[in-house]
Amino acid sequence: MQRAKISIIGAGNVGATTAHWCAANELGDVVLLDIPQAGDMPAGKALDLMEASPIMKYDAKITGTTDYADTANSDVVVITAGIPRKPGMSRDDLLATNAKIVGSVAAEIAKSSPNAYVIVVSNPLDAMVQRVLQVTGFPAHRVMGQAGVLDTARFKAFIAMELNVSVEDVQAMLLGGHGDTMVPLASCASVGGIPVAQLIPQARLDEIIQRTRDGGAEIVKLLQKGSAFYAPSAAAAQMVEAIVKDKKRVVPVAAYCDREYGVGGYYVGVPVVLGAGGVEKILELAMTDDEKAAFQKSVDAVKKLVATMATLV
Ligand code: NAI
Ligand code: 2OP
Repeated sequence: MQRAKISIIGAGNVGATTAHWCAANELGDVVLLDIPQAGDMPAGKALDLMEASPIMKYDAKITGTTDYADTANSDVVVITAGIPRKPGMSRDDLLATNAKIVGSVAAEIAKSSPNAYVIVVSNPLDAMVQRVLQVTGFPAHRVMGQAGVLDTARFKAFIAMELNVSVEDVQAMLLGGHGDTMVPLASCASVGGIPVAQLIPQARLDEIIQRTRDGGAEIVKLLQKGSAFYAPSAAAAQMVEAIVKDKKRVVPVAAYCDREYGVGGYYVGVPVVLGAGGVEKILELAMTDDEKAAFQKSVDAVKKLVATMATLV
């Protein structure tokens, strides 16, 4: 059986680390693409990863390039191209620059890998994934965004840290856009099957939920240069794995919702079944009235962002 071909566009912090996770977990052969610049940065990072493989014992061919011809007929493409946040910036401040970058990347992918599944990571996420859908014209089940896997991972990590328990026993779900209005669902969080509300007092849980919403900004403030990349890239690699191994994972993904949740044709984070068919199914879950209101606020924020993007591209 042939190995999957995974192309990662943007060989910066998130892109190169996604390549690392994909190779180390033997998800397929990896092509790392960036724009031409002094030296050959993507080739350098790819070679470095190849040279790590005898030590870490993974079989994957990793190549770096500035030419989309080398990405031809990819099975999965991960888009991380664009600029990251600086301290004080919101994800939305990246809109004008990244809409142009991501639009041009999407046009190249449509030509070189017309059958690919596309996972968008560039921010502001929910608008960027909509842009990729518009430009590629791919069916919506093949175009999705990474946000919820990261945001739930943060939520789960904070719950595990709070209770001093294994992260393996924490379950959580989260809805909405990848922004300040995201909706971590306390009603779906559990530890070893025990609802989290039975283990953490509500006031403390509210603080953890807020920390989850601010999780990206917390890392930006600590790093001062650039934004998070270890957890975001691990999240992107988990989505790649779900597709190339047809795992049918139930994870939150920025998926195109039309009638689902009454969204009306936008990308927002919702639970999906992710497998070899991409977004194979969107799962509609019951929410409390407060969660419904918070979700609607998040959907409205995404719609506003997409409307602003339409004036810029
Ligand atoms: P970075 O600056 O380290 O890397 C971005 C790379 O994109 C650079 O190497 C740059 O040369 C490249 N690039 C720019 N224009 C390009 C083009 N037209 N074609 C190909 N490559 C191009 O930034 P980092 O930290 O890797 O973040 C990348 C993006 O991912 C940012 O927009 C960031 O906000 C977003 N992000 C999203 C997350 C999510 O959960 N959805 C989490 C973390 C980051
Ligand atoms: C994050 O949540 C910046 O979106 C990125 O870390």
